[in-house]
Amino acid sequence: MNIVILTGAGISAESGLATFRASDGLWEEHRIEDVATPQAFRRNPVLVHEFYNQRRAKARLARPNAAHQALARLGADPRHRVTLVTQNVDDLHERGGSTGVIHMHGGLETGLCAACGHRWEAPAIMGPYDRCPACARQATRPDIVWFGEIPYHMEEIAAALEQADLFAAVGTSGNVYPAAGFVELAAAAGARTVELNLDASARTSVFDEARRGPATQVVPQWVDELVG
Ligand code: APR
Repeated sequence: MNIVILTGAGISAESGLATFRASDGLWEEHRIEDVATPQAFRRNPVLVHEFYNQRRAKARLARPNAAHQALARLGADPRHRVTLVTQNVDDLHERGGSTGVIHMHGGLETGLCAACGHRWEAPAIMGPYDRCPACARQATRPDIVWFGEIPYHMEEIAAALEQADLFAAVGTSGNVYPAAGFVELAAAAGARTVELNLDASARTSVFDEARRGPATQVVPQWVDELVG
């Protein structure tokens, strides 16, 4: 079976990483527009780098949980072709054993040069005066897709959705497009669609099935049904 899985912040919540849309509307005490837009970075690159330096430090201390590990188990099952797309910028899927993870919103573990496009392994602390290891310009930025920027790997994701027999969204609030629209693309391709989330998301009504609960419980259960 061709399976496409979209994950969001909820899958890493039980690893201790904060989700974005907490009840106070703040992300680790910041408004999203102050830390996650190109405008914010132009206005205050020190603050934005500092914010992602903190996210990187927390992610490095976090451990993958049973949900990450279950999806790795599914990905290793030779009877299925699994495309794992994540909106998360942590690397807990990889550390949980998944390979070929598509990071549509970028990642904390690489730096990006806004001048030449070069990527490199991110140091613990990045700052606005760092030089790009390739072109030496002071144009380094977190390799994160901010609001208003185009997500990565969209063609590859669209191709996988067109082939999907089963689509699952795990731990995502369904507020951010284009990811929130993947369920319709998969359904249009004939896929069965299932949402695995703690609460109802903004898109719950579109799915064929919704399973409620913490990711560490509902995801391993769901994977057991598919892997046997
Ligand atoms: N298990 C399962 N789901 C959970 C858990 C849990 N333990 N804890 C929280 N959730 C659910 C919440 O109910 C919510 O629906 O995870 C979802 C997290 O939603 P968001 O915080 O909005 O995260 P996400 O959907 O990944 O955000 C999308 O927005 O800020 C941008 O670019 C950023 O990639 C991010 C995008």
